[in-house]
Amino acid sequence: MRWWDIAPVLELERALFPHDAWSKGLFWSELAHARGANANRRYVVAEVVGEAGEVRVVGYAGLAAVDGTGDVQTIAVAREHWSTGLGARLLTELLTTANAFECREVLLEVRVDNTRAQRLYERFGFEPVGVRRGYYQPGNIDALVMRLSDPLSAVQGMSHGSQD
Ligand SMILES: CC(C)(COP(=O)(O)OP(=O)(O)OC[C@H]1O[C@@H](n2cnc3c(N)ncnc32)[C@H](O)[C@@H]1OP(=O)(O)O)[C@@H](O)C(=O)NCCC(=O)NCCS
Repeated sequence: MRWWDIAPVLELERALFPHDAWSKGLFWSELAHARGANANRRYVVAEVVGEAGEVRVVGYAGLAAVDGTGDVQTIAVAREHWSTGLGARLLTELLTTANAFECREVLLEVRVDNTRAQRLYERFGFEPVGVRRGYYQPGNIDALVMRLSDPLSAVQGMSHGSQD
């Protein structure tokens, strides 16, 4: 993801996270940490090319790495591309990044009512390790904290076709 992707990403962000969409400033700030010698973030976009050759952003994801722990900051796919395996491809990219950053574990938070995302994470081996009460506003929705202890094995397992 580069700065010119922020506008189309924001459009998806507002559609997919209507209650707690990230601001433009937050994406700029995250991307600032994704470049340079001390970079500890990586953000990616998924694009499709239309019949007229136009390029459209249909997914994005980001990971932060601090002291050997990766954190899935965000992951999202345009609704019309759900169930095509794109979410899994984006997550694979983040876990590959976690390995490059030498993370021993990867954590994430997910709304307790977001079972679709939880299933995706479980397929990669993430396990629930706790709950943050009232983490998401508005509505005081709890967050499930999930942890993956071995990001390298998870990526290798998925690439060997263990997706079921
Ligand atoms: C969560 C999210 C990223 C998942 O994206 P996705 O692209 O639908 O994910 P996948 O396609 O990889 O997997 C979803 C389902 O499609 C199935 N699938 C994967 N590849 C497939 C393929 N080639 N053909 C058919 N189905 C397939 C998977 O088995 C999975 O099924 P399951 O949910 O029954 O386990 C997406 O729903 C989303 O953006 N949600 C809104 C934002 C959000 O909640 N983000 C997470 C915040 S924590």
